[in-house]
Amino acid sequence: MVLRPLPARLLAAWPGWRTACARGASRGPAGPGRPRAGPGPTPERYRVERLPFSTVSAEDLAAFERAVPGRVVTDPGALEAANVDWLKTVRGCSKVLLRPQTSEEVSCILRHCYKRNLAVNPQGGNTGMVGGSVPVFDEIILSTALMNQVISFDEVSGILVCQAGCVLEKLSQFVQERNFIMPLDLGAKGSCHIGGNVATNAGGLRFLRYGSLRGTVLGLEVVLADGTILNCLTSLRKDNTGYDLKQLFIGSEGTLGIITAVSILCPPQPKAVNVAFLGCPGFAEVLQTFTTCKGMLGEILSAFEFMDAECMQLVGQHLHLAIPVQDSPFYILVETSGSNAGHDAEKLGSFLEQALGSGLVTDGTMATDHRKVQALWALRERITEALSHDGYVYKYDVSLPVERFYDLVIDLRARLGLQAKHVVGYGHLGDGNLHLNVTAEAFSKALLEALEPYVYVWTAEQQGSVSAEHGLGFKKRDVLGYSKPPKAVQLMRQLKALLDPKGILNPYKTLPAQA
Ligand code: FAD
Ligand code: MLT
Ligand code: ZN
Repeated sequence: MVLRPLPARLLAAWPGWRTACARGASRGPAGPGRPRAGPGPTPERYRVERLPFSTVSAEDLAAFERAVPGRVVTDPGALEAANVDWLKTVRGCSKVLLRPQTSEEVSCILRHCYKRNLAVNPQGGNTGMVGGSVPVFDEIILSTALMNQVISFDEVSGILVCQAGCVLEKLSQFVQERNFIMPLDLGAKGSCHIGGNVATNAGGLRFLRYGSLRGTVLGLEVVLADGTILNCLTSLRKDNTGYDLKQLFIGSEGTLGIITAVSILCPPQPKAVNVAFLGCPGFAEVLQTFTTCKGMLGEILSAFEFMDAECMQLVGQHLHLAIPVQDSPFYILVETSGSNAGHDAEKLGSFLEQALGSGLVTDGTMATDHRKVQALWALRERITEALSHDGYVYKYDVSLPVERFYDLVIDLRARLGLQAKHVVGYGHLGDGNLHLNVTAEAFSKALLEALEPYVYVWTAEQQGSVSAEHGLGFKKRDVLGYSKPPKAVQLMRQLKALLDPKGILNPYKTLPAQA
């Protein structure tokens, strides 16, 4: 077989990759040290009334101390970080955080809370983007941080069973040592928990290749509101016995039960990974490159991410990462993952030749070495972090037909004018998922009103989804109706009432406020 060489100009060393790597490209979000002051209490910014739950008494604290000895946190300083979300947009005033280690302990806590009518906010890595992970008022925070044990790993099937509080990056390392990978990856991997990923049905950077957690999660153990342990922790690829109850909890954002353990199918580690970071002259060319990519790379295409020039400018400005390709209005990151380096290089070479030759792509760089691959990924993964350094961030996470994808960004730039510092678009183009972000010096009600419901109406008109992968949490719960019909919302309320009749699990989240 004759191998087609990769275009030499793309293989030329990119001097900036060391900078990107040295700054901890894959470390996940740099929460502490980010410059902005925290938000005020949530009810000051949003219209929300405390529901008539009990407040935590000395007797409750004593009961918790019996359930999780030495792991009841009441020190206000220690509670501060757990009361504020990663984006620093919402703040609760919980006075108690509990750190169970086992499902039985979670069950014991919930039995007590259910009896006493105490509201509970499940929390994983607190990297959620929609204010679901922190209390709105004084809900008890139930953290999964100490539920971090791998239960089993089958080296033939690749099925991993673990507790919900395992950090995604740690799981990635664990399975990689056994020649597998996790089926999902995201910029928050250094902090987020697998239970949080399942609770939000996180999409992320490997969705294009490995699909949704709705397919890769094989089983769950969940503790229900009254403390009942529901064991659906099977590790079967096929199981059509009755309703698939675990699906109810995937993406339910802690409102239907607390996920305590996860069984998940891990794909084999690809032997060859290539990443190309390319500049495109226009959005039409981005789309054509995607079509060409799918046609020419076929089964080895594992990611197709896109970002506009303003994103890259912010990554350079705030994170001091060197951008390897300059002066393009759009950038794409294409990843291939396969089992035969020669075969993959040949395919990628043909694709790049075609894309460069036809003007779809004007410039680019590529990497096969692991550290350089990570450095290129950092340019995409760390956009979220760069934006958070830019000021208050209004975040929208929509699914749209790809042809209309960027029109929303252009439209908003014109609509907002100087009200916004930056209006940027990036995201998982391969999955039809746009991240539209607007930054401003500080939160402003006027700017919020210029954005909402405009963005949601625009999205609904395209039959899109107002939350592609981040969920609804607290900040987006009232926009569910833009993407789901009233009957569906009603059924969701009935399911909530069935599983959590007192409404103690993550109140004020996911379902719209009752009129
Ligand atoms: P948390 O933030 O702690 O919680 C999220 C929600 O799940 C809350 O409603 C919480 O109550 C609930 N929850 C948490 N644990 C449990 C549990 N065990 N049982 C029941 N409910 C629970 N999301 C994507 O989809 N794709 C991305 O590419 C992506 N990239 C990100 C990059 C960065 C830098 C950041 C900061 C966030 C990103 N996110 C992304 C958002 C976020 O959804 C994910 O980070 C992650 O899935 C949340 O996990 P967590 O453990 O931090 O959960
Ligand atoms: C991403 O894809 O980077 C994440 O979903 C986070 C974000 O939207 O900023
Ligand atoms: Zn995303």
